[in-house]
Amino acid sequence: MNEDKKVSRKPWDGRFVEATEKMLEGFSASVHYDCRLYRQDIAGSKVHARMLARQGIIPDKDADAIDNGLSQIEEEIASGDFVWSNELEDIHMNIEQALVERIGEAGKRLHTARSRNDQVAADTRLYLREEIDRLNRLLSLLQKALLQQARAHKDLILPGYTHLQRAQPVLWPHHMLAYFEMFTRDRDRLQDCRKRVNICPLGSAALAGTGFPIDREYVAEQLGFHGITANSLDAVSDRDFIIEFLATAGIIMAHLSRLSEELIIWASAEFSFVDLPDGFCTGSSIMPQKKNPDVPELVRGKTGRVYGHLMSLLTIVKGLPLAYNRDLQEDKEALFDTVDTVCASVEIMAALVVRLVPKKKNIHRTVTQGFLTATDLADYLVKKGMPFRQAHSIVGKAVLRCISQGKDLAEMSLEDLKAFSSLIDEDIFEVLSIEGSVGTRRCPGGTAPERVTEALAKAEKKMTYE
Ligand code: ARG
Repeated sequence: MNEDKKVSRKPWDGRFVEATEKMLEGFSASVHYDCRLYRQDIAGSKVHARMLARQGIIPDKDADAIDNGLSQIEEEIASGDFVWSNELEDIHMNIEQALVERIGEAGKRLHTARSRNDQVAADTRLYLREEIDRLNRLLSLLQKALLQQARAHKDLILPGYTHLQRAQPVLWPHHMLAYFEMFTRDRDRLQDCRKRVNICPLGSAALAGTGFPIDREYVAEQLGFHGITANSLDAVSDRDFIIEFLATAGIIMAHLSRLSEELIIWASAEFSFVDLPDGFCTGSSIMPQKKNPDVPELVRGKTGRVYGHLMSLLTIVKGLPLAYNRDLQEDKEALFDTVDTVCASVEIMAALVVRLVPKKKNIHRTVTQGFLTATDLADYLVKKGMPFRQAHSIVGKAVLRCISQGKDLAEMSLEDLKAFSSLIDEDIFEVLSIEGSVGTRRCPGGTAPERVTEALAKAEKKMTYE
């Protein structure tokens, strides 16, 4: 066999006679994206080496040399001077090789009692734990923006919709708080997911654990994990924690996309409910009059990407036998892109939401037309003793009459209204006003001003400690 063709840089090349095809090197390399994990990889290696020394598995002085060498490498990577090599496949082998080149023999002891399989699982968990915390902080900013918007136009009444048809009047802060609730649930989901992310797989080694007398608890504790995985086969092949995160990110994007859709509709000339700040819009290269709502459109579009990543991961793990399979390397780009996409989307939406300006006159016009208080008229009749179904039918007829006369319910005369039911009196006009309508919805969770004031205060209190 031609020894010249053998490449000696690969840590695993002992049993190989021929060099790796260049084509394969390019195909299998992950270092161009998993280099993002360098801080986690180095932190994990340092603790692992320290543990090996504490357990008498490697000499103390080797652990010291490893620690120093890794610190230098970390600085070099941070400054952009480190040269990554595809030939060394991934972040783990690139760093290990650089360490050996720096400190020699001691560096070769680092990989005792571990495998890249438990190493990559640990790195990814450490990375995701940090990103979950960052995303959580960004969601908190978005929630604060919603509260600011709610507070700024506390008495504004807008049409509430079902089927995108005007339905009943609601308070602007009630509408903002609806999104606040969604993001509260998202943050709960993230915290729940974090519990399962923050478990240490190190010590599982390649798949079966190790015969060295390692101290897994020490490693876990030093790295801030709150426990250790219970089964080595599962630990090296479990990517549920990523799937859970992607699902949560998918739901966050769904919520952002709904908000985006609403802003896009609201910003249209047909609705004209809000003005989006110029700084968050772009123009058209051909139509001079255009001001396009690009931010919410992009957020809505990026939602598709995140859903796609969730589907990728579910599909990647679907047919995998235990334990580690190289397929799992495909998890990272999906995860990284999801993190980038969801964080950037939340951040920009937070900035946009604070700057929204409702066009109160236009909103008011729509809320006083379209029979938004028809249900109130039916409820009025019910309170005077009429069964709801009968009231519903009578009000339906009244609406028909209004349509033929081009009037809203509140614009009818008392005489005209009385013709539909003798139960109707002078007090009906208060009921048919939008303020009256909103004011009656005092049940918990309703849009009455008292309820909304309470809900807003509660939400603000929750956010004061953040
Ligand atoms: N780059 C690999 C990944 O991301 C690391 C683990 C490789 N393990 C192996 N036995 N080839 O999954």
